[in-house]
Amino acid sequence: MEPIKIVDNVYWVGAVDYDIRDFHGYLTPKGSTYNAYLILDKEITLIDTVKHGFEDELLSRISKIVDPSKITQVISNHAEMDHTGSLPGTMRAIGADKPIYASALGVKNIHGQFPSEGLNLKQVGKEALKLGTYSLQFLETRMIHWPDSMFSFLPELGLLFSQDGFGLHYASTERFDDELPPSTLEYQGLNYFANILTPYTSQIAKLLETITSSGLIGDTKIICPDHGVVWRSNPSKIVELYTKWVQQKPKKKAVVSFDSMWHTTEYMARELTDALGHEGIDTHYLNLKHNHRSQVATESFEAAAILIGSPTINNQMFPSVANLLCYLKGLKMKNKIGAAFGSHGWSGEGAKLVQAELGSMGYSLPSPEIRIQWVPQEKDLTPIKELAKLIAAEINKVAE
Ligand code: FEO
Repeated sequence: MEPIKIVDNVYWVGAVDYDIRDFHGYLTPKGSTYNAYLILDKEITLIDTVKHGFEDELLSRISKIVDPSKITQVISNHAEMDHTGSLPGTMRAIGADKPIYASALGVKNIHGQFPSEGLNLKQVGKEALKLGTYSLQFLETRMIHWPDSMFSFLPELGLLFSQDGFGLHYASTERFDDELPPSTLEYQGLNYFANILTPYTSQIAKLLETITSSGLIGDTKIICPDHGVVWRSNPSKIVELYTKWVQQKPKKKAVVSFDSMWHTTEYMARELTDALGHEGIDTHYLNLKHNHRSQVATESFEAAAILIGSPTINNQMFPSVANLLCYLKGLKMKNKIGAAFGSHGWSGEGAKLVQAELGSMGYSLPSPEIRIQWVPQEKDLTPIKELAKLIAAEINKVAE
């Protein structure tokens, strides 16, 4: 449980959660980290804490540098429980009366989480907080991705503490961007962005403009997020990726995701995937029996088209498909072409309901849903191939 030096007088003292797989409904196959940072100055300052259950790991790392009771203040950049869950336990070791600085809504939310702990919560001001040699400036980043979220900037060292922004859910022994392959960083960054930040792309785009035009990003030498690696070798890389991702420009890519009762909707999905592939579209086949909704979301993020298949059960779509649609609807992805398909025995509402839901999500629907009764026959392939041609043509109109 060793701390990791970021620069002189600033250390990573967080926790590594190799085992977490379900992060509020998002599959995290590589686990995650809860990053916290210790600044040594006249005022010894802890930036963020960790999830409940990881207090000992945090305090063990801090103790290798300084007695935790010497910490004089804590900054809480984000009041979600993976960062505040250990606050009461941590404050008992630091000193229950020490101040915890947060945004106005951070103060409210932390108090709401721990109303009887008597935490000494203080709202950050517009003025920088003097630590001694160093100082901290605060920037509200409301809805990135919670109402309370804020960044803290240490100008004397060019360190930006960006809470969830620019994070990765990636548990490993590596703490820095230069220790992992760029392809891993980009894929994990996209996975994180797609599942956590997509609903807030407008707010993120404005924030990127603000921090670029104000010179904050130009002055940033190292980005220290609350999850995953510290961006020390090339912090502008993740900022450039965010600048691209907020635009949600579709690629020449399609996702075919479905569930099936007796392999007949699956047969349609395979034929659609083949046909779209023949049209030159990079097509991803994601059977919900083997793929988590968040994997579908990750693949869907840059896809121009999302085709969803469902059988009918008790006059409804299949529950796993409803689960996926509920998740995708919350992510509010933009610039999507949608299509629904499915086989059925008699009533056949499944595909119709999927089509209606895709419409309600703002996806453009160039075709009515494709439904096949019972087992698809050779003649049934014609509408599937026609749908693939139509979707491919629509993709080619909009994709990069
Ligand atoms: Fe890492 Fe929104 O908490």
